Amino acid sequence: PIAYVNGSFVPLSEAKISVLDRGFLFADGIYEVSAVLDGKLVDNASHLARLERSVGEIKLKLPETVERITEIQKELIARNNLTSGLVYLQVTRGADKGRDFPFPKADVKSSLVMFTSEKDIINAASAKTGINVITVPDIRWERRDIKSVALLAQVLAKQAAAEAGAGEAWMLQDGYVTEGGSSTAFILTKDDVIVTRQNSNAILPGCTRKAVIALAEERQLRVEERSFTVAEALAAKEAFITSASSFVQPVIALDGKTIGDGKPGPVATRLREIYVEFAK
Ligand code: PDD
Repeated sequence: PIAYVNGSFVPLSEAKISVLDRGFLFADGIYEVSAVLDGKLVDNASHLARLERSVGEIKLKLPETVERITEIQKELIARNNLTSGLVYLQVTRGADKGRDFPFPKADVKSSLVMFTSEKDIINAASAKTGINVITVPDIRWERRDIKSVALLAQVLAKQAAAEAGAGEAWMLQDGYVTEGGSSTAFILTKDDVIVTRQNSNAILPGCTRKAVIALAEERQLRVEERSFTVAEALAAKEAFITSASSFVQPVIALDGKTIGDGKPGPVATRLREIYVEFAK
């Protein structure tokens, strides 16, 4: 695999960054993950718009224009002959001469790193079987709307899920589901309303979430953006998650308790098909 590091394309195994990089020392950086289908980026403008917003919120300057970043993403896809998978992009506040908390001087350039990974998102087995989800307390900071590389809480949440044989962890705050460790949480209520938490500082504004809501509304499906509890999720007809790396994935159980009939529901399955069409 070929990676991109600050202006150069290099073999991923040889791609290097300084130990003084602020991404490494302080998690002082932002990332994005875009899907690739049939060699083309999926909903990438939405990801780059969120990138611009995230870097703005932490006063980080992108080292390249968004247009140039898009060109680099495309060149990386071509160099890797990637047909289906993900492009990971990370920008950090660069490497100064030592470890000092305040921002470095303006002459320290931000680091931009990208690499790709192959993933057959469309044919993922878990999309057909559905996934189990566990719940964990949401122990993250108060600016989850920023796609920061500080992901320790999600690492712990998703490790707990993996150890429990679950495919995702839903994080809870004040009795309500915020979101998944790396996905947005949805339920379908008994009266066929698709419910997902409203955007705020408490969650990442998912690009897939946004597209799925628009696609559902175009088809006259009812969508409500509001918080929901675990009890509501357990009483729901269906549940599912969305993310760039999984598109739409049905959730069949929460903390070992079945949701609906314990099989991927028709609405989640349909929304997945609709999203795949949109992504192509
Ligand atoms: N995660 N919520 C969180 C906390 C996330 O990390 C992600 C994405 C999402 C879904 O956002 P989107 O639909 O824009 O991918 C929601 C990426 C895929 C990751 O960390 O790998």
